[in-house]
Amino acid sequence: MKRSIRTKLFLGLSALMLFFVFISLGMTLLGLEKFYIWQKKEILISSSKKIYDLYEGNPEAMSLELERLGNTMGAGILIFSADGRIKYSSFFPVINDKISDRMPPPFLPFPDHKADEPVPRPHPFPDPPHHNQTLSKETIDNNSVLEMQRDTDLKIDFMVLRRQLKNNDALVIRLPLAPISESATVAAQFMALTGVLAILAGGIWAFFFAGNFTRPVRELNRIAQSMSKLDFSQKCTINRRDEIGELGNSINHLSDQLDTAISELNRKNQQLMADVEKERKLDKMRKEFVSNVSHELKTPLALILGYAEGLKENIAQDEDSRNYYCSIIIDEAEKMDKLVRDLLNLSQFDSGFFKLSRADFDLSILLKEIVLKYRTVLAEKGITLELDTEESCLVNGDILRSEQVLLNLINNAIDHTEFARKIKIYVENYNEKSRIYVYNSGRPIPTESLEKIWTSFYKVDEARTREYGGYGLGLSIVRAIQELHGNRYGVENVPDGVIFWFELDRVQNV
Ligand SMILES: Nc1ncnc2c1ncn2[C@@H]1O[C@H](COP(=O)(O)OP(=O)(O)OP(=O)(O)O)[C@@H](O)[C@H]1O
Ligand SMILES: [Mg+2]
Repeated sequence: MKRSIRTKLFLGLSALMLFFVFISLGMTLLGLEKFYIWQKKEILISSSKKIYDLYEGNPEAMSLELERLGNTMGAGILIFSADGRIKYSSFFPVINDKISDRMPPPFLPFPDHKADEPVPRPHPFPDPPHHNQTLSKETIDNNSVLEMQRDTDLKIDFMVLRRQLKNNDALVIRLPLAPISESATVAAQFMALTGVLAILAGGIWAFFFAGNFTRPVRELNRIAQSMSKLDFSQKCTINRRDEIGELGNSINHLSDQLDTAISELNRKNQQLMADVEKERKLDKMRKEFVSNVSHELKTPLALILGYAEGLKENIAQDEDSRNYYCSIIIDEAEKMDKLVRDLLNLSQFDSGFFKLSRADFDLSILLKEIVLKYRTVLAEKGITLELDTEESCLVNGDILRSEQVLLNLINNAIDHTEFARKIKIYVENYNEKSRIYVYNSGRPIPTESLEKIWTSFYKVDEARTREYGGYGLGLSIVRAIQELHGNRYGVENVPDGVIFWFELDRVQNV
């Protein structure tokens, strides 16, 4: 099961708090009593050493120091002479057999005694009022012993240190030990209570701390996950001046860099795909073109070859037959010549290097000249041609190429005119353009072919095109010339025929 970093941190902090609470509880229960005894022992030993150093045989000389030590330790200090007399007692400060005048009167052990009189001491020394039971004994050094005693009447334990002083006097320090084990239990109970409270409060704190502390990490994780899904719109908003803040900045930077790099990569990939597709199309077009050209050359070449061989073999016996053979060879050679010229034209126009020779010219004059040239041919074919143009119409463009466009359209109109056998050429002037229309009566072009007729070698009706010897290149040349001029062109079917049109830049009469 996945556990969040927040939960982990919270559990870790809580465990740490529990650990400390249990450690201090255990230490209190197990070690407090030992520590207390050790500490008291150290105090007793150091105090006894101090007394040993200061003691010259007369307690009076250091009575103040003895009293101070006794009071600060909370212990009774006794000094015995070698013959067992009490030379000093912190309970009854006897100094040189006289009770110290520092002892307050109510504590005088002998009410009738005058301060300057010798202390009436019962002899022999009275039995100790209580019974002491020695629990343990430990030799500290050559002249000191430490005992643990239990007063069976008072039920109190004492720590007693005996040390040999100068003059063979003996020092006894008796320190009552508080019932420390009980205190330790109470302390442990209190600590358990405070521990529970501390854990509760600490738990709440740890919960919020873990949430706060891990929030940036969770945010970074979320951003990194979006980045892995290539979504670079998410940005890190951590505003901290530490390693996590720096990490946030680095991730933002990385995201920007990746975004740019991947966008660039995508762009280049698309470009590459487009290039590959373009190359594929070009290659296909090239193959089609070669197959089309060879297809178109096949028939005239076969005819030329056949008739030329016929002439050589003297199959045509008479003059007329030979003339007929020759005219067919010439005819087919002319067709091939036209095909080659058209192809050259087209490849020039499509090469991108062809330069138009633009000039202003009168479109009306051009149209009238062309109509004049066609008069005989049209008359022979029984076609009526009508020209409708203004007296003068100034346009700008490459006059030779524009004438080529017109001738291609008129030739097509002648080849396709039917029914009324009528062709009409007319011009409409717009603001910046003059549009030339070439109409012929006849059958409409199928809608699905209207787009395709502008591509090389496309023929709507193969058989019919073969009749008039077309290659399907005329309209491709129209398209190429119009594109070079930057002008539009088009075709539309009308109820009784077809209208082709193209535009030229109009020169405004000033
Ligand atoms: N006026 C028209 N009426 C009907 N169909 C036409 C007309 N003009 C062109 N087309 C169709 O468009 C095709 C392409 O014309 P395009 O001028 O490019 O070639 P073509 O006339 O067949 O041969 P080329 O012009 O190379 O001698 C023609 O084969 C024909 O089917
Ligand atoms: Mg044509």
